[in-house]
Amino acid sequence: MKLAAFVSGLALVACALDLENGLMKAPPMGWLAWERFRCNTDCKTDPDNCISEKLFVDMIDRLADDGWKELGYVYVNIDDCWMAKKRDTSGKLIPDPERFPSGIKALADYAHSRGLKLGIYGDMGNYTCCGYPGTTLDRVEQDALTFAEWGVDMLKLDGCYSSEDEQAQGYPKMAMALNATGRPIAYSCSWPAYQGGLPPKVNYTLLANICNLWRNYGDIQDSWRSVLDIVDWFSANQDVLQPVAGPGHWNDPDMLIIGNFGLSDEQSRSQMALWTVLAAPLFMSTDLRTLSRSSREILQNRLMIKINQDPLGLQGRRVLRVQKSKSHIEVFLRPLSHSASALVFLSRRTDMPYRYTTSLSKLNFSASAVYEAQDVYSGGIISGLKAGENFTVIVNPSGVVMWYLYPTITLM
Ligand code: GLA
Repeated sequence: MKLAAFVSGLALVACALDLENGLMKAPPMGWLAWERFRCNTDCKTDPDNCISEKLFVDMIDRLADDGWKELGYVYVNIDDCWMAKKRDTSGKLIPDPERFPSGIKALADYAHSRGLKLGIYGDMGNYTCCGYPGTTLDRVEQDALTFAEWGVDMLKLDGCYSSEDEQAQGYPKMAMALNATGRPIAYSCSWPAYQGGLPPKVNYTLLANICNLWRNYGDIQDSWRSVLDIVDWFSANQDVLQPVAGPGHWNDPDMLIIGNFGLSDEQSRSQMALWTVLAAPLFMSTDLRTLSRSSREILQNRLMIKINQDPLGLQGRRVLRVQKSKSHIEVFLRPLSHSASALVFLSRRTDMPYRYTTSLSKLNFSASAVYEAQDVYSGGIISGLKAGENFTVIVNPSGVVMWYLYPTITLM
């Protein structure tokens, strides 16, 4: 009897800790302010680009009117620098009154009226990374209630200005507090990024129970070098990271920077393909008001999005790395539902388009099928592929060829 009571007590504790919001069965998609708009609070000289309700209303309108929402890009997420420098007299977080005169609830209502969701940013610690009021341990419940009262749909909880111990208490505490509000609020945890991103310091089993997504690694910057640095870190640690992702709980390599200043079109196609193979959240951080046609085509590629959102929710892996291939072509593979796969050939060359020849057998595909591939960017179909037969793809410097590959005939 006693033991049974003890066990059911344990189960209760475990249940209370779980983030049971049922959200994000596929990687979340939307828009996040940080990489492109940072902490620009100077609305006097830069009214169109400062962190203000105007910026978010503009992005809500673009997402709703320009075909994004229908493709799944539904989150509009505020990052740092939205707050007033001090809490109000009751200790409640408040937005900067000049930059957000209508308040966050009005913004959430507007997002909802346009069929979108609103995300907000907080920080487990004394201050946000940019020095705005943080959520100390004693404020966790109050802030969760505030976000729920405003009708917020997602919280990114950063980890500046807190100790390891405060983070270990605070992140699970916020998961419980969000659950307790009764409002489904997706929860993005920056915790692992502050603890080096790897076990034993990071407990991914716990994270998968309490967070819908988590930042594992440093911030993306507007450059190809930054994209490669992130891809290399995720690939080097894929044995740890790949198994912990799945429906409802995702690794987050950070925002898409497509549409900004640091990537060529080739590199933009590469970031989109690699994030998709990583089953990564697709949060664009770019100015949707001035996006070029080519960036839009990359971000709105339907087959790409279908692959990213695949219901199996398996993260892919780098199956061939550059040190082992003199060609300087790397190969990434993500298994998909219906025995399909996504294959990405990435060129790390800096000379000219490279003709890369390989076969599906060399990439460990079974010889008991005949395959067909659709090129995700060109739309071209390659049929009648036998595993043992060589094929050649032409990959541009810092570009990719991406295939959606599926068996058409199973051989006896
Ligand atoms: C940290 C986070 C970024 C961003 C900034 C805001 O650096 O990792 O994504 O939220 O803080 O200050």
